[in-house]
Amino acid sequence: MAVRVLAIGDIVGTAGRRAVRQILPGVVREYSVEFVLANGENASGGTGLAPKEANELLDLGAHVLTGGNHTFRYRELYAELDSNPRLVRPANYPPGVPGKGVVCFPDEINPQIAVINLIGRTYMNAVDCPFRMADEILSHLDSRVRIILVDFHAEATSEKVAMGWHLNGRVTAVVGTHTHVQTADERILDGGTAYITDLGMCGPIDSVLGVDTDPVLQRFRTQLPIRLTAADGRSVFSGLLIDCNDDGTARSVTRISRVTDS
Ligand SMILES: [Fe+2]
Ligand SMILES: [Fe+2]
Repeated sequence: MAVRVLAIGDIVGTAGRRAVRQILPGVVREYSVEFVLANGENASGGTGLAPKEANELLDLGAHVLTGGNHTFRYRELYAELDSNPRLVRPANYPPGVPGKGVVCFPDEINPQIAVINLIGRTYMNAVDCPFRMADEILSHLDSRVRIILVDFHAEATSEKVAMGWHLNGRVTAVVGTHTHVQTADERILDGGTAYITDLGMCGPIDSVLGVDTDPVLQRFRTQLPIRLTAADGRSVFSGLLIDCNDDGTARSVTRISRVTDS
């Protein structure tokens, strides 16, 4: 089962969703993409994910939405995180929080693709160890799963690179999210695992990581708790195409970065 996967980074607010609507269908057609993985943690107003925007993104062509540090912002999503098999949140949150950290596609009866979501600990909130959690999930994963995709939502480049090596040869791809700027280090590690430190965002380009520039500058200049707002306008659509082999290794990777007209 050779599969072509497209992973896209943090979708930020209205502009990010508009970029997905404008660009995703064409990329899927152009590259015959069969599975779309998207990070949705910033889709609602720039921070968090509400059920309405989650469903909008799933309707637009994302097969699974991953999360991050903003995923739990909207309480309305909690029940959906539990029940919707296409929503996943970082696995290494404390036991008992809503949702699950791994999902299988198309379903549990015929699991072909597994998506694992993890979050980093360096310069981020204290959570359980993502490295040990990855090991634990892999030790229990259904043996019929062929393609394993990991979204590692983390701040520090070193922690993300380390996760790539930790999972090298054991998963199909480790893609980084959270920092919103695409990195140019995409490669296939020697064990056959596709890797990129950050997919980059789908969101407004004339901004600071998707946030309106002025309040961010005021914050940096004054250190006051200025309210931040999601930017709008011309957007970048960022992601990584991953060609997956039948044996679950990656064959090739192609970075995608396109900008909308408006
Ligand atoms: Fe983000
Ligand atoms: Fe994040």
